[in-house]
Amino acid sequence: MVAERARLVEISGIRRLFEAASPDAVNLGLGEPDFDPPPEVVAALCDAVRSGMNHYGPSAGISALREKIAERYRSLDPTTTRENIIVTSGGSEGLMTVALTLYDAGDEVLVPNPGFVLYSPHARLMGATPVPYSLTAENRYLPDLDELERLVSPRTRALVVNSPSNPTGAVFPKKTVARLSAFADRHDLSIVSDEVYEEIVYERPATSFWGVSDRAVIVNSFSKTLAMTGWRVGFLVAPRTLAPELNKVHYHIVACPPTPTQVAVLAGLSDGEEARRSMVREFRARRAIVTRLLSRTPGLSVVPPEGAFYVFPRFSWDRTATEAAGDLLRRGVITTPGDVFGSLGASHLRLSFAASRENLRRGLAVLRRYAADLAEGTVP
Ligand SMILES: Cc1ncc(COP(=O)(O)O)c(C=O)c1O
Repeated sequence: MVAERARLVEISGIRRLFEAASPDAVNLGLGEPDFDPPPEVVAALCDAVRSGMNHYGPSAGISALREKIAERYRSLDPTTTRENIIVTSGGSEGLMTVALTLYDAGDEVLVPNPGFVLYSPHARLMGATPVPYSLTAENRYLPDLDELERLVSPRTRALVVNSPSNPTGAVFPKKTVARLSAFADRHDLSIVSDEVYEEIVYERPATSFWGVSDRAVIVNSFSKTLAMTGWRVGFLVAPRTLAPELNKVHYHIVACPPTPTQVAVLAGLSDGEEARRSMVREFRARRAIVTRLLSRTPGLSVVPPEGAFYVFPRFSWDRTATEAAGDLLRRGVITTPGDVFGSLGASHLRLSFAASRENLRRGLAVLRRYAADLAEGTVP
């Protein structure tokens, strides 16, 4: 027998789809950079392991790394110190730590729809109710403040935000960050700001909630920026009063984040900058290819992503998102059906451009053929 809460969550639909794919399918479903970590960082990891950094470390993370992260956030709030920083086992554990620390049973939590797949299940695991707020193409996938005012209730505990967004690629303008902060103030809410794609932006820098709202907990990660999703290093930036509470809970989940990968990340923060820039340059070029080809595909409309490495076209085909993704899978292309990210992801596909230019062109050619076949009525 398992606890009731285990029945409240499922393995993500994305995984099920991948498992059904043939090995030579073009994969436009990847949620991680198709790059290796910068070579200096890989070398630093080997050194760390060889030189004996293989033991437990402090639960909030090694001091030098916390200090280095704090330094970065001091430009946003000059009072930031390492006491505000907790190193986590990736952003995923950071999100779980925040949920365990902030949400009580019976609370309501405002979550983006469509939004990253962990926000609602985490709320449910705590006995809280996720209350989805809409992100629509008409509003360039930005939150609608009037709708948030209608959804908020005396039970609302927190607002979860994600900019740059997975799956939409939207990046909040500064004024959206200011308005959402004022909204949280008005209703006495915590802000859980998932900023893991912060450094993967194409138009303008992303605006962090740190230094704008003193109610914000920032969830961040090195997974995407240093192309090291398997290394499991992320971090939380939290107000001084909240950080010790978060750290207690975090200790009960992981004891401490992995020591050798923290040492390597510390090296990467100084040495990995050029590798990150060149990765973002490549994503920018691919984004141009993808948006150009998609905008010429019958039945699709697309808001060009301003950040992350996803594009989220909406389709007007007579298909559900799962059916469309299933058809494409049978034609040899893996995409992610938009509805795994929430009800408003219906009639959308998420395509990841963490794939080579060649694979993007091949995958998009299949997609365009499929769209043409649908238009001609030749798809069963
Ligand atoms: C929006 C968002 N937040 C958090 C994560 C978690 O990343 P990680 O646990 O690898 O740091 C992801 C991963 O895909 C994501 O897309």
